[in-house]
Amino acid sequence: MREAAHAGWNVAYPAQVVSFEATRGGRSPLRDPSGPAGRKSTTREPIIQEPEASEPEATRRAAGVTESSRANRGWWDRNADEYQVEHGTFLGDDRFVWGPEGLDEVEAELLGPPEELKSKDVLELGAGAAQCSRWLTAQGARPVALDISHRQLQHALRIGGSFPLVCADAGALPFADGSFDLACSAYGALPFVADPRQVLREVRRVLRPGGRLVFSVTHPIRWAFPDEPGPEGLSVASSYFDRTPYVEQDEQGRAVYVEHHRTLGDRVRDVVASGFRLVDLVEPEWPAWNTSEWGGWSPLRGNLIPGTAIFVCVRD
Ligand SMILES: C[S@@+](CC[C@H](N)C(=O)[O-])C[C@H]1O[C@@H](n2cnc3c(N)ncnc32)[C@H](O)[C@@H]1O
Repeated sequence: MREAAHAGWNVAYPAQVVSFEATRGGRSPLRDPSGPAGRKSTTREPIIQEPEASEPEATRRAAGVTESSRANRGWWDRNADEYQVEHGTFLGDDRFVWGPEGLDEVEAELLGPPEELKSKDVLELGAGAAQCSRWLTAQGARPVALDISHRQLQHALRIGGSFPLVCADAGALPFADGSFDLACSAYGALPFVADPRQVLREVRRVLRPGGRLVFSVTHPIRWAFPDEPGPEGLSVASSYFDRTPYVEQDEQGRAVYVEHHRTLGDRVRDVVASGFRLVDLVEPEWPAWNTSEWGGWSPLRGNLIPGTAIFVCVRD
């Protein structure tokens, strides 16, 4: 691990910058490693880590910013290997897929026409193994892949690439104001943070005027349904309006995984209150070609209710 320099950055927070040279070498919608974003590398074997000692208890209770970050950093470090093994093939090493429906940026062009990505500085939040950043590099963009999980970024190193990897919390971005032209996230960070406005304000700060943020999250309607791919996942089981976080905790009551719910209206208000203009809200339909299940995402449910919400925002 070593500090890496990048033009325009001002490392104001204790983040770790990982370079390729340095280290080359309960069911919930997102928790299930057979959930939304990951792909299997067919070229290299992942390194398997120790599993959690005992099965955590799933509950609903309050969880603040620090507790949520700490819990999710640990969970993703412990589960990154399984996640990448389970989902690597679906995502591909260098595709940009917005969610389990398989909507690809090549067809969606939510970041703009691919030819306009050339030479753009792009921040990918909650990048995981940085598959999207690899696709952006191929378009001639200059991505930076950020994730809170060191283990996820080790998978980015394993797959390879020539862009910087930064291990940091999306709520405290270690970049100078106006460092990026674009920001994107495929199910990264935002479903897991207690204060999404803090993240969005940070993204606005590091974007240049006119910059665009596009992020996907679990469609809020899914909160009301059991996280099951079959018919049992089609009946409302809890209130859509209950914002109490989903928490998994160990025997001492310490959170080991946290997921936060925002209604669709909450998400819109978060975007606007953080200084963005919302220009589109995309709800990808389940395509006929996609016969694979990803945790609670399945063709059965995907044909009836949305599974992903993608917010397209502009920083004026
Ligand atoms: C569902 S995965 C998505 C990863 C990747 N975008 C993909 O499509 O495979 C969520 C990612 O968000 C990261 N994450 C969770 N909380 C975060 C936070 N506060 N800051 C930055 N990353 C975070 C996790 O470590 C994980 O890699």
